[in-house]
Amino acid sequence: MTQAYFVTATDTDAGKTVVSTALLSRWRRQGYSTLGLKPVAAGAEMTRHGLRNDDALALMSASSVNVPYEHINPVCLAPPIAPHIALQKSGMQTTIEELSAQVRKTMADFPAQRVVVEGAGGWRVPLNDSEDLSELASTLALSVILVVPLKLGCLSMARLTAEAVLADGCTLAGWIGNRVTPETMSEEAANLTTLHRILPAPCLGVLPFDPVPAGRPERLGTELSCQGGSGCDPAHRAVSSD
Ligand SMILES: Nc1ncnc2c1ncn2[C@@H]1O[C@H](COP(=O)(O)OP(=O)(O)O)[C@@H](O)[C@H]1O
Ligand SMILES: [Mg+2]
Repeated sequence: MTQAYFVTATDTDAGKTVVSTALLSRWRRQGYSTLGLKPVAAGAEMTRHGLRNDDALALMSASSVNVPYEHINPVCLAPPIAPHIALQKSGMQTTIEELSAQVRKTMADFPAQRVVVEGAGGWRVPLNDSEDLSELASTLALSVILVVPLKLGCLSMARLTAEAVLADGCTLAGWIGNRVTPETMSEEAANLTTLHRILPAPCLGVLPFDPVPAGRPERLGTELSCQGGSGCDPAHRAVSSD
């Protein structure tokens, strides 16, 4: 049976892609077929094959199911700016209806047992004048995984994002703490304990800092485990069990 998740974060550069590829790698090692999608990407290089975005390429290479790039990342925009502005600047537009139809079709044409759909930026990032990208998660009924970068300020941002996810009628599958800096954040254990207490969903893991995360999703997938905080419920660890 397919389990499909929408990976969001408190912010951009929080580790959505690193966590998504680690999840894909972990599931693949557990024997599941896997697929990572990046429906909207802003920030892409022109190649001889057309525009290519790094996140989408990373998800593509971490997936076990072979899917053409255009299906992994149907909306690929050159400017590394907010998606709705990148769409405007590129003379393009899209809607949740279009995106959800594309994702549904890709999931039907290229079935995988575990799917991650990476968002863009944070939860409330606009897609156009009247819709937010988060509506893709609610429309497709994807369970949401929240990536929390372990740095000062993460408590309020994590809490606000979790509240918004639930207010939008989505299921929060859990959260993953991500060590985005080589230095451990000050009072990390106390912060993790607080995240366990204030977030209305289980901790699915805490990712270590890896100086070369992009090249080694396998290693991070192996190390994705819940540590450094109390209250982690292994029964809820969707990332490590089925
Ligand atoms: N666990 C980690 N260890 C080391 N670097 C990380 C880790 N997680 C993220 N990074 C780095 O932080 C930056 C942002 O991560 P990324 O996954 O691209 O974030 P997002 O997808 O949320 O924008 C990237 O340069 C990435 O390599
Ligand atoms: Mg990303």
